[in-house]
Amino acid sequence: MATSNAPGKVYLFGEHAVVYGEPAVPCAIERRATVTVETREDSRLRVSAQDLSLDGFTVEYDGTTAGQPEVDVTEELVEAAMGYVDGAIEQARDAADEPTAGFDVTVESSIPLGAGLGSSAAVVVATIDAAARALGVTLDREELADRAYQVEYEVQAGQASRADTFCSTMGGAVRVEDDDCQTLSSPDLPFIIGYDGGAGDTGALVSGVRALKSEYDFAADTVESIGDLVEQGLETLEDGDIEELGRLMDFNHGLLAALGVSSRSLDSMVWAAREAGATGAKLTGAGGGGCIVALDETDATETALNYSPACEESFRARLDTDGVRREE
Ligand code: MEV
Repeated sequence: MATSNAPGKVYLFGEHAVVYGEPAVPCAIERRATVTVETREDSRLRVSAQDLSLDGFTVEYDGTTAGQPEVDVTEELVEAAMGYVDGAIEQARDAADEPTAGFDVTVESSIPLGAGLGSSAAVVVATIDAAARALGVTLDREELADRAYQVEYEVQAGQASRADTFCSTMGGAVRVEDDDCQTLSSPDLPFIIGYDGGAGDTGALVSGVRALKSEYDFAADTVESIGDLVEQGLETLEDGDIEELGRLMDFNHGLLAALGVSSRSLDSMVWAAREAGATGAKLTGAGGGGCIVALDETDATETALNYSPACEESFRARLDTDGVRREE
């Protein structure tokens, strides 16, 4: 048996533009997915997942039978989550050169599904790591991050960057630009997350930005502007200037909204955070619904978000400098 866990993340800057080769800065947060793997006598895969949203639900799913999972979130989300687990298991089998190995996999996560906090990357990283170790292979972190990226790339039909998987593997703040991935030193960032209880469709949102970019030069310019903003954000991060980071986050949200990936609830939460005195606020991840991230040392933003009708839940999540962790 082997258990590994890996963190979720927020984008300080650069989601969507990173898909087109611009740099991005995701940051790992103290919300984790924990995966326990036991090998089986046969070559089947059985996955049970619990608490995959903040409210929690349970799904018993056997990937090798026609059984339908019983869940209280949409079936598409569960199927997507199981696609990631299947892909991760294939990577572990390949790494250990044991193509027919069977597993019982248990996933527990406090990262809401599909909400911009890197739930799929955390599950994939932790699953590959635990399953490979259950077969006697401990992967170095570079290989783990690369294998996790291959899974996201396949499940998301080629529309994935290395940002989520590299960040979840390494922890802390990272810079990702195409295949160039680096860890960064960062001040402790006072993240507040607002969650609208929903989820965006990453594939559709990425396709929408691609279409806008090819139709309008100014949309392509907007993507490049996000890249310029990220470069400035990197300098600001190095200086540890939280006020200026917040200003750049506000700007980044505006550019993402111009690309059509915000939503009424995300905009409402961003404004609730700003009005409460947050240093800055933006959507995080693919958008369309899900989460915003704000910076605030005080409790004011969290409280204001909890009173905002658009927000189902808000919480503080500090930067997590640990990436993948091995429990046993
Ligand atoms: C999704 O978490 C972030 C996107 O930039 C897609 C990706 O980088 O794979 C929208």
